[in-house]
This record gives sequence, structure tokens and C-alpha cells, in this order.
Amino acid sequence: MSAQPNPAAYGERVLVCRLDELPEVGSAAADVNGRLVALVRTDDGVVHCIDDTCTHANVSLAEGELDGCTLECWLHGSRFDLLTGDPSGPPATVPVAVHHVTIEGDDVYVALKEN
Ligand code: FES
Repeated sequence: MSAQPNPAAYGERVLVCRLDELPEVGSAAADVNGRLVALVRTDDGVVHCIDDTCTHANVSLAEGELDGCTLECWLHGSRFDLLTGDPSGPPATVPVAVHHVTIEGDDVYVALKEN
């Protein structure tokens, strides 16, 4: 079984930033073709990208707390899995979209998940 995402499920990849513009470990908000996303570098050096807006209310997940491979919403504490987008529990019940990240040299590209 391949770990590669299905390319048909994602749009064109977009250059978003340089790797050194991201926190060593942590998250930053970015705009990709008008869609707000959170770019998150975990302590294993992997960069993830999920929708920035919490599915419970309209707040930025990039301002939340990183814990392992989850990002905790700062307002009510739901934790979103960076690999699946699934919330750990209420109050959020709807997953966030997970986008595809590629790194080439120092460049960070994101291909948005299509709805
Ligand atoms: S706004 Fe994110 S859990 Fe409520």
C-alpha cells in the first residue's frame, strides 16, 4: 500500500513560503489561493498543513497549542490530528481538511485538498 496521497484529490501545488520562515516546532497561518491554512512543523521535522479555521467556531488553529501530531484549538480545546484532520473530541465534531505538503530545497509547497 502506498503512503502517497491520491493526486487527483488535490489541486495544483502552490509555493507558500520558505522552510526557514516556519517555526522550528510550531505553527503559522498562511493564505493559499485565498484559503487560510495552518502550516505546522512537528518535532520530527515534518511539515503538515490543515485548514486554519476550527470547525467548531471561527478561530485560528495556528494560534493553538501543538502536542505531538495534534493541534489543540485554543478556544475550547478540541485537538485536531494533523494526519487525518479528525478532532479528538467535542466540542468540535467535524474534521478539518488536510492538505498535501511537499518540500523542495527550502521551498514549502501546498496542494489544497479539493472538496
Ligand atoms: S472554537 Fe475550536 S473547539 Fe471551539
